[in-house]
Amino acid sequence: MAEIQIKNVAKAFGAYQALNNINLTIADQEFMVLLGASGCGKSTLLRIIAGLETATSGEVWIGGKRIDHLSPKDRGIAMVFQNYAVFPHLTVFENIGFGLRMQKLPNAEVTRRVERVAGLMHIEMLLKRYSGELSGGQRQRVAVARALAMEPDVILMDEPLSNLDALLRMEMRAELKGVLAESKTTAIYVTHDQVK
Ligand SMILES: Nc1ncnc2c1ncn2[C@@H]1O[C@H](COP(=O)(O)OP(=O)(O)OP(=O)(O)O)[C@@H](O)[C@H]1O
Ligand SMILES: [Mg+2]
Repeated sequence: MAEIQIKNVAKAFGAYQALNNINLTIADQEFMVLLGASGCGKSTLLRIIAGLETATSGEVWIGGKRIDHLSPKDRGIAMVFQNYAVFPHLTVFENIGFGLRMQKLPNAEVTRRVERVAGLMHIEMLLKRYSGELSGGQRQRVAVARALAMEPDVILMDEPLSNLDALLRMEMRAELKGVLAESKTTAIYVTHDQVK
């Protein structure tokens, strides 16, 4: 069960009030799309849920437990960043498997998961390439694959497909929804894109 509850969350950066009393419930296994103008606080909210930023006030609950005091790695969350931080000096395989290596999963399991999610994101032919040699859209798909490989309870995606052309973006988003529904993951998907 990974229902997300945001309770009265506010965030100030100095005198600037970026978030003001946000209340939001995302049901277990829901795929929630967060749409809003540039600068309205979408990334800030995701970073607070993931634990990369501390709220000025308010609470974050996942699966009926308050989690805002936990460190990011203990929250069962994987995040795809807006600037898709992939490591250019690592191969696509090692980028996707990075979190799994940190968890010290056996090699065979790392390989199984990396190959599966690379297939889902249509980048299986790129596994041996260095990530520094990829296009922006390919890099973004590596970042999404890396989050999926963690098989998290909750996945937070910040404009994860913005570098793809419109047709590929629609296809990949539909596939991503299918994959997440199957894996019973609760997802928040941030976008500027108003096309369904
Ligand atoms: N570390 C920071 N220090 C000061 N102000 C910040 C900081 N991070 C974000 N802000 C400000 O808070 C507001 C919300 O930023 P945020 O990145 O959450 O917006 P966003 O909705 O993700 O925008 P975009 O769609 O352009 O990515 C912006 O006005 C931004 O300038
Ligand atoms: Mg943002």
